[in-house]
Amino acid sequence: METDNFKNFAKYYDLIYGLDTYKDQPGEIQFFIQEAKESNTSVLELGCGTGRVLIPTAQSDIDIIGLDISKEMLEILEQKAVELDLGPKLIHANMVDFKLDDKFDLITIPLNSIHHIIDKKEQLKMFRNIYLHLNYGGKCIFTNQFYNSDFLSLKEYTFIETYKENTLGIELDLYLKFDENKKTLKERFVIFDKNLDEEQTCDLMDLYPFTKNEIETLVCNAGFKKIKVYQNFQYTPYEDTSDLGVWVISKIN
Ligand SMILES: C[S@@+](CC[C@H](N)C(=O)[O-])C[C@H]1O[C@@H](n2cnc3c(N)ncnc32)[C@H](O)[C@@H]1O
Repeated sequence: METDNFKNFAKYYDLIYGLDTYKDQPGEIQFFIQEAKESNTSVLELGCGTGRVLIPTAQSDIDIIGLDISKEMLEILEQKAVELDLGPKLIHANMVDFKLDDKFDLITIPLNSIHHIIDKKEQLKMFRNIYLHLNYGGKCIFTNQFYNSDFLSLKEYTFIETYKENTLGIELDLYLKFDENKKTLKERFVIFDKNLDEEQTCDLMDLYPFTKNEIETLVCNAGFKKIKVYQNFQYTPYEDTSDLGVWVISKIN
């Protein structure tokens, strides 16, 4: 299994990416639940993390399987699921090359997890693999962020935002930098936690800043023929001004 950069960070994930993750884009969780309700098979969520979407989906009586490369993220999910008396199947695997016996009507990848696949060959391998695990008529739904030129011109780590949890005495400062050589964005958190002796620096996995054309080419090359992209969770067709992409790609004959 590859390096897990979420190892030290997993315990802080829910503090940052709470349910209001998309502050200006309401309806994300409801969108995924609604889509999941239309599936005749279990739903497979790739990069499920700590269950931000998986848990409310499972609470809506939907059979959902979570897959993630990070053991630490899955452990947090499992703990939360047990407390809620839920028992989703969880798989520790890489979304690029996982192999399951079942095929699905719906495979989801919420919250920009596709950005963590930075190698172009692996990106294609991942979408081909998803295609193979779908039934005909089945869909893959994923979201991405379109990074504007401001982000892609950050030569040094630049402070972006602070997240604070006063009760727990935790502060996380997010820095971003664009790596010219690798053409990836690097996300760094500096963590001040009253339970630790000193501040911690935590570098997450690199992010690949996809363009719309790149994603379209990738999913076409993977075999998907019906491709829709929206700019929000209300199915408004994508316009070039939006930084959110909500993709619904279908496997059809
Ligand atoms: C931004 S988090 C999103 C988590 C969750 N989907 C959510 O909506 O909160 C990205 C997740 O993708 C996972 N991930 C990154 N690369 C992966 C890979 N190659 N295979 C499976 N999971 C991966 C990380 O471990 C992390 O849990």
